[in-house]
Amino acid sequence: MTVGIDKIGFFTSPYYIDMTDLANARNVDPNKYLIGIGQRRQSVIPQTQDTVTMAANAAAEILTAADRAQIDMVIFGTETGVDNSKAAAIYLQDLLGISKRARAFEIKQACYGATAGVQMAIDHVFLHPNSKVLVVASDIARYGLETAGEVTQGGGAVAMLITQDPHILALDGQSAFHSDNIMDFWRPLYRQEAVVDGHYSTDIYIDFFNKTWNQYCYQTKRTLADFAAMVFHLPFTKMGLKALKSVVADADNANQLLHEFDFSTQYNAEVGNLYTGSLYLSLISLLANSDSLHPQDRIGLFSYGSGAQGEFYSGTIAESFDRAKLKRQVDRLLENRVKLSIPEYEKMYQSGLPLSAGEVTFDIDSDQSRFVLRGRHSDQLEYVDTKKSEQNA
Ligand code: HMG
Repeated sequence: MTVGIDKIGFFTSPYYIDMTDLANARNVDPNKYLIGIGQRRQSVIPQTQDTVTMAANAAAEILTAADRAQIDMVIFGTETGVDNSKAAAIYLQDLLGISKRARAFEIKQACYGATAGVQMAIDHVFLHPNSKVLVVASDIARYGLETAGEVTQGGGAVAMLITQDPHILALDGQSAFHSDNIMDFWRPLYRQEAVVDGHYSTDIYIDFFNKTWNQYCYQTKRTLADFAAMVFHLPFTKMGLKALKSVVADADNANQLLHEFDFSTQYNAEVGNLYTGSLYLSLISLLANSDSLHPQDRIGLFSYGSGAQGEFYSGTIAESFDRAKLKRQVDRLLENRVKLSIPEYEKMYQSGLPLSAGEVTFDIDSDQSRFVLRGRHSDQLEYVDTKKSEQNA
């Protein structure tokens, strides 16, 4: 039996800024952002979207009624939780109409959370072959206006259905991981923006990649020659390139791996960091944009979450993978976004749900997404499925 990613969906905000505009506003040479960091655009999250609505918008795209009935576990990876106690997965299960006989819970370990979810889902399906597990990765990356990290912000969600006989990526079931107590990036409970030691974090990322890659090679006896492509957690696209370059120098297929890497960054360069979803957006980007990959080709995946946890694992492309369909869905979403000026972005950035208590109502008519956040009343978040409201009207 093979187990892996059967379906994959992506959602990001309908708004973005251009990195040249941001560079000009911050008196920085645009090439630093475009080439040095490797980002073209960045999603800006409006007050009507949060990690729950983005996850619901990503998952609704891929789930059929049969999937909703058959899913017996909902795993929500996020470091932008909406409550200190209640799991975002419970809201998601309800919004999507997933069977109430499912387990639903949240996992946090910075950008690594969804990978823990994927691994748990694989083990679960191996034990229970008829089950389907929904794993979502949803986050909003915030460092603050006019900070060094501002160019690496972004946000969005990836939803994956893990099943037997998958139609996208069959996972090998072999992985190597490494964890250590590292203060490279964290977010104290009183803050909406991350605290980060930026250059230290990039060094640790590369160190964890090398450790897990070497361990994986030792465990599996595989080498770079066994891989058609590698995808990375991409806080910004240059980060993954640096990691890849740290191992490919002597490989016969170095040019091929670097060529494929380019495809794996196309969507991330348009969206920015979506924390735990970034690796999986990179996978989508590779699969949708590369025209040289074939069924059975092996792809390596490097997941990294600050604090820190790293994992390298792998899978092979399924025979039945439909590249055109995936590309159509993501291209349409990105093409329909609205560009903001930098003053508009700054206003939107500061307009979200406040950390302090109080009644809040947002104008949901300004957001055409299916799932939106209407506000907070009596300390309860109020989510709306606009499709359901239309049907009830
Ligand atoms: P910085 O100090 O502003 O940038 O911060 P820099 O001076 O290091 O320059 C960046 C690159 O641009 C350099 O290239 C420059 O040479 C180049 P490099 O030497 O690195 O190859 N450059 C130019 N290139 C072309 N034309 C020019 C030009 N000028 C300069 N004119 C930093 C950059 C990434 C540190 C900052 O944005 C930051 O702190 N970001 C947030 C932290 C981050 O993303 N860390 C990544 C690893 S940790 C991780 O991935 C986990 C994370 O996702 C969180 C989680 O797990 O939850 C972050």
